[in-house]
Amino acid sequence: MQSAEQHTEDFADRYRLGRKLVEELGGADGPGPTAFDLLGKQWDVVPGTYAPHPGTGTEWYTTAIPYPSGGRFLEIGCGAGVTAIWAALHGCAEVTATDIVQSAVDSTLLNAARHGVADRVRALRSDLFDELGPDERFDAVFWNCSVFEAPADFEFTRDFEWAIFDRGYSALGRYLSQVHGRLLPGGRALVTFNSFGDADRITGVAAQAGTRLAPLGTADRELAGEQVTYKLFEVLPA
Ligand SMILES: C[S@@+](CC[C@H](N)C(=O)[O-])C[C@H]1O[C@@H](n2cnc3c(N)ncnc32)[C@H](O)[C@@H]1O
Repeated sequence: MQSAEQHTEDFADRYRLGRKLVEELGGADGPGPTAFDLLGKQWDVVPGTYAPHPGTGTEWYTTAIPYPSGGRFLEIGCGAGVTAIWAALHGCAEVTATDIVQSAVDSTLLNAARHGVADRVRALRSDLFDELGPDERFDAVFWNCSVFEAPADFEFTRDFEWAIFDRGYSALGRYLSQVHGRLLPGGRALVTFNSFGDADRITGVAAQAGTRLAPLGTADRELAGEQVTYKLFEVLPA
C-alpha cells in the first residue's frame, strides 16, 4: 500500500466521504452500552460514541504515541477512551481525558473501571481545554482530531459527527494555539491527521496558530473500503 498525502483535492468529495463514514462507522443508537475488541482487549462503548474498529487510526496511534513514563498525560477527544486507558496501563501516573460529548466521557469512565485504572484516569466533558483548571499542565497532550472540514454553518445533530467533522478546522486551530500553554517543562504536544483531510489547509491552520507540525510517523491502512494514511505529528512552535 502506498502512502498518500491526500485522498482527494476536492472539498465536496471529502465532505461526502465524511458523511459516508458517519453512516458506516456511527454504530447503533441503541439504549445501552455495547462492547468491541481492539488491541487484544474488550472495550465498552455508550451509544453515540466513536467505536474505533481495526483500521481506524486509534489502533495505530495508541501504540505509536511516546507516552511520558511516570508522568501526566492529557487526551483531548477521548472517544471510547482506548488511548487514555492504554496510557494508564503503560506507565503514565495520571491521565486526564476530555471530550465534547457526554457519551464519550461515560464510555471512558466505563473502560477505566473495566481495565482497573479508575484510580488514575479522570474524564470530563469539555470543549478542548475549557473545563480544565487554569494551572493544569501535562507531560504530553494528544488529540486524534476530527479530520473532515465541515462548512462554518454545519449543525451537529449526532454525537458521532463530532468524531468526523470540524467546522472550518476551528477546533484544530484552537487546539494548536492553546496546547503549548498546557505543557509542563519538557512536555510534548501531539496531534494526528490523515489523508482524508485537507493537507494544505492543515499546514495553513498550524502556521496561523504559530506552530508547525513535525512528522513522528505514518501508517497505511484501509477503512470502510478506502485507503488511508494515518499521520502522527509533534506540534512545535513555528
Ligand atoms: C477522531 S475521534 C477520536 C476518538 C478517540 N480518541 C479515538 O481515537 O478513538 C475525535 C474525538 O474528538 C472529539 N471532539 C471533537 N471536537 C472536540 C472538541 N472541541 N473538544 C473536545 N473533544 C472534541 C470527538 O467527540 C471525538 O471523540
